[in-house]
This record gives sequence, C-alpha cells and structure tokens, in this order.
Amino acid sequence: MKSNQSNIKKAKKYLDNYECIAVPTETVYGLAGNAYSDTSVKKIFKLKRRPANNPLIVHYYNLKSLQNDCKINDEFKKLYYNFSPGPITYILKLRRGSKISKFVTNNKTTIAVRFPKHPLIRRLLKILDYPLAAPSANISSKLSSVQPSDVKEEFGKKLKYILKGGRCSIGVESTIINLSSKAVILRLGGLNVSKIKKILKKQVLIKNKLKHKISPGLFSVHYSPGIPLRMNVKKPTKGEAFVLIKKRKINLRDYFFLTRNNNLTVAARNLYPLIRKIKNKGYKKIAVEKIPNIGIGQTINDRLKRASKF
Ligand code: TXA
Ligand code: MG
Repeated sequence: MKSNQSNIKKAKKYLDNYECIAVPTETVYGLAGNAYSDTSVKKIFKLKRRPANNPLIVHYYNLKSLQNDCKINDEFKKLYYNFSPGPITYILKLRRGSKISKFVTNNKTTIAVRFPKHPLIRRLLKILDYPLAAPSANISSKLSSVQPSDVKEEFGKKLKYILKGGRCSIGVESTIINLSSKAVILRLGGLNVSKIKKILKKQVLIKNKLKHKISPGLFSVHYSPGIPLRMNVKKPTKGEAFVLIKKRKINLRDYFFLTRNNNLTVAARNLYPLIRKIKNKGYKKIAVEKIPNIGIGQTINDRLKRASKF
C-alpha cells in the first residue's frame, strides 16, 4: 500500500510536467496525459502513432469534476448512477469554454468521457486538478495492453513511466454509448448492452459495423495481432495456433485454451494476453474456435472480427 502511494505521487509528478504515462484501468491500460494541455495530448498521439482525427476518451474521478467540460442529460445520469465507475464510455456534448484541449476531440463538438474503476487510477484522478485523456496503451491498430509487460512490449523505453496496477480485471475495452443525440452503442465492450437497455427501458441500436464511420477509431484494421487470424474454425490447418474456449484433455502443442470452465468473462480477460503469447511464440497464423455470441461473448467476437481483418 505504502509503495502504491509513492508510485501515485510519482505518476502525478510526470503528469504535472506534461509527460504521458501508462495507467491501469479495469478494462485495459491507458496512455494518459493532462486532457487540458495541448502539449500532453500531442505527446499521446505521437507516442501511439495515432491519426489526429481519432479522438481520445477523457477519464474523470466523478460527476462533479466533469460538469464544466460537458453537458449532461437524463439518460447519462441514469447510466452514470448505475454503472460508473466502470467499463462504460459516454459521448456527450462539449461545453463551450471547456478547458479540454482541442486535440483531444479533434475539434469536434462532442467528447468521450469515462469514470474508470481501478483503485489506482481513481486515487490518481482524485489528486489531479485536471482529467486524463487516455487511449488504450498500444501502438495504433494493435492489440490493447492488459498488464505492465504488454505496455513495455508496445512502447519500450520511449515511455517514461508505467503506474503498475497488475492485470486488468475485465481485459477488453469499455462499451461506448453516444448520448449526444439518440442513444446508440458505438462499440461493444466490458459492459453488456442488455444491462444498458434495462436501465434506459428501451431498445438501443448498436451501430458498430465497420461501414459506420461515426467513431473514427473503429477503423476496420484494429486490435490486430499482426498475424492472420481466422474465427469460427472447426479444424486448424498445419502450423496454425488453435485457440479453444475451454481446456480439453487433448494436449496438442498448438492448442491454447481461453478458460478452464467455459466462463465468458474469464475468456474476455484472457483473450488479448493469449493472442500476444501465441504471437510471441513465433506462430504465423491463429485460428479460433466458435465463441458463443452471448453477453461479453459478443465483445470477444467483435474484437476477433476486427483482428481478422489483418
Ligand atoms: O476501456 C477503454 O475505453 C480504454 C481505457 C484506457 O479507458 N480506452 C480506449 O480508448 O479504448 P481508445 O482510444 O483505444 O478508444 C476510444 C474510442 C475510439 O474508437 C474513438 O474513435 C472513440 O472512442 N471516440 C472518442 N471520442 C469520440 C467522440 N467524440 N465520438 C465518437 N467516438 C469517439
Ligand atoms: Mg484502442
């Protein structure tokens, strides 16, 4: 605990000096900088090699800290009180006069906001006098990082500091909902859409298809392992790493398992690290068996589909 405290102070120091650092969240690690500073935000884009037209998510401690930056509405409040802090990102209208750097939003009139739940980033946000702009801590279009070693693999020495918070408990990115006009899901993620519908008491459209270009970050090539990936595979071909949802007795060298017991939440948590591991073992191709398309299984399938566009 004590060492955590000094690490949080160290993290604050880097951020106060307009540096960007990696921070843990419950979904994936973020590459964070002061969202009010052009200098900090520009560093994030450069380090991540992110196209300037792909806006960033801004992370806040609580509702109060966000009110000067964006306009909130009733649907937002309902979802906020039920699911935040947690794996949901809201697109809201930016307030005129807000201090958010124009590079965060790419000059748009909307802003993506999130309240992460991981205790370390919450303690950090609480002592900062600015919110944190943070995309996932990976080189643009590559796999997200869910543990400090992934972040190191992505950025090496170019990154000044990683606030280490262990392995991410959810392991896939947040669910994004646009609330700046009619409620629409823009990205499937860690929070089930069925839960959102229940709170809003209505159907909510999912517009995350590759052809919808509302969220510029949802380009077709995304979450890419850097080697070809096939999904819904019954039988792998020679030399392919074969990913199965549940551990089976077969002990073939090229077989890898997402879970011991079929639990989809666990499968989501293990997805990115397993794909990273397979790639690092030197495999040139990955095949994944059919994953049940229910609950967070939908998010897993969404990511596999994007990864397979390589
Ligand atoms: O779980 C997460 O959301 C992680 C952690 C670090 O919070 N962050 C994350 O950020 O996944 P990133 O930058 O990898 O993905 C953010 C997505 C991008 O697809 C971006 O285009 C979209 O959010 N986005 C950001 N601002 C937007 C806006 N104003 N309108 C529509 N989409 C927006
Ligand atoms: Mg990302």
